[in-house]
Amino acid sequence: MSHRIVVLPGDGIGPEVTAAATRVLEAVAGRFNRRFEISTHLMGGAALRAGLPALPPETLEACRRADAVLLGAVGDPAFDHLPSSERPEGGLLAIRRGLGVYANLRPARLWPGVDDAGPLKTELSRGADLLIVRELTGGLYFGEPRGIDRNRGTAFNTMRYSTIEIERIARVAFGAAERRRKQVTSVDKANVLETSQLWRSVVTRVADDYPGVTLQHMYVDACAMALVTAPTRFDVILTENLFGDILSDEAAVIAGSIGLLPSASLGDGPGLYEPVHGSAPDIAGRDIANPVGAIASAAMLLEHSLGLGDPARAVNAAIEQVLQAGHRTADLAAGGPSVGCTGFAQLVVDAVRA
Ligand code: IPM
Ligand code: MN
Repeated sequence: MSHRIVVLPGDGIGPEVTAAATRVLEAVAGRFNRRFEISTHLMGGAALRAGLPALPPETLEACRRADAVLLGAVGDPAFDHLPSSERPEGGLLAIRRGLGVYANLRPARLWPGVDDAGPLKTELSRGADLLIVRELTGGLYFGEPRGIDRNRGTAFNTMRYSTIEIERIARVAFGAAERRRKQVTSVDKANVLETSQLWRSVVTRVADDYPGVTLQHMYVDACAMALVTAPTRFDVILTENLFGDILSDEAAVIAGSIGLLPSASLGDGPGLYEPVHGSAPDIAGRDIANPVGAIASAAMLLEHSLGLGDPARAVNAAIEQVLQAGHRTADLAAGGPSVGCTGFAQLVVDAVRA
């Protein structure tokens, strides 16, 4: 049985962490007797440097033909002077839109063995295990009109949501909650924004179809505070694009390092999987990046796009085993001894094979 996986290493530490995750996928193929046809394509700053657009058309085509896509990171300060649509990040938005992956799942939990790595007191964060369901193809990121009027010295973006967009992402969140602790917190700014008022009414209506799940509404400012003061009160957080972007970085504090966080972006076609950390140009090329976010993203890929639940669990168990044995990448080592990206990946590979 063969599966087609497209890997987009991208920029900064992207190539290092996707190489790590690819080696783990190869170990999975060996142990579970599967075949993965893995091909690598350019995107982001890496594509711009090759004289191509940030999302080359042939890259998007390859992704559309694949069963799943694993992306490293996108972002390169060398292109910061360009207009938004021509930057590496423009390629990321184009691929999300091009694949129609409207549902971004960002789980954040304490990994056993590193529960003291973050700045939160352990008595606050112990047991935290939440899933952010972020709307990914709407809101301010894509709303028109948008622009900068240099003559007037003004700039504008549009936050726009349709009932259909809200309803489909709400269904993803409630479906996920049914398989978890059956609690959805819908996060908005309905005391100020019309988009949030529509959001709240649609989510409330969708909730009727999921009688086993409890729905709670929360303003985004209150949620930002509660995430780091009472993280265990959350199960599934459902929110729009920009709020989800901000809250998911904050949720990384619960896990201890943003290097640990995976994500899955799902729509009706192939899924897109990427670690939540960015390209981290300051540490790129030094083999010190944490590959857990990318490896755990590969585990989500196995589960959600390939339907390989056991192999996915084996990968997560292998990560846990390596962390519990005390191995730490630099971001988790607090200045103590650490293992590099390649070394950590090898330990996970060994654990998968064992
Ligand atoms: C993320 C990133 C992206 C986003 C950037 C790089 C465009 O921060 O995936 O969270 O804002 O969605
Ligand atoms: Mn982000």
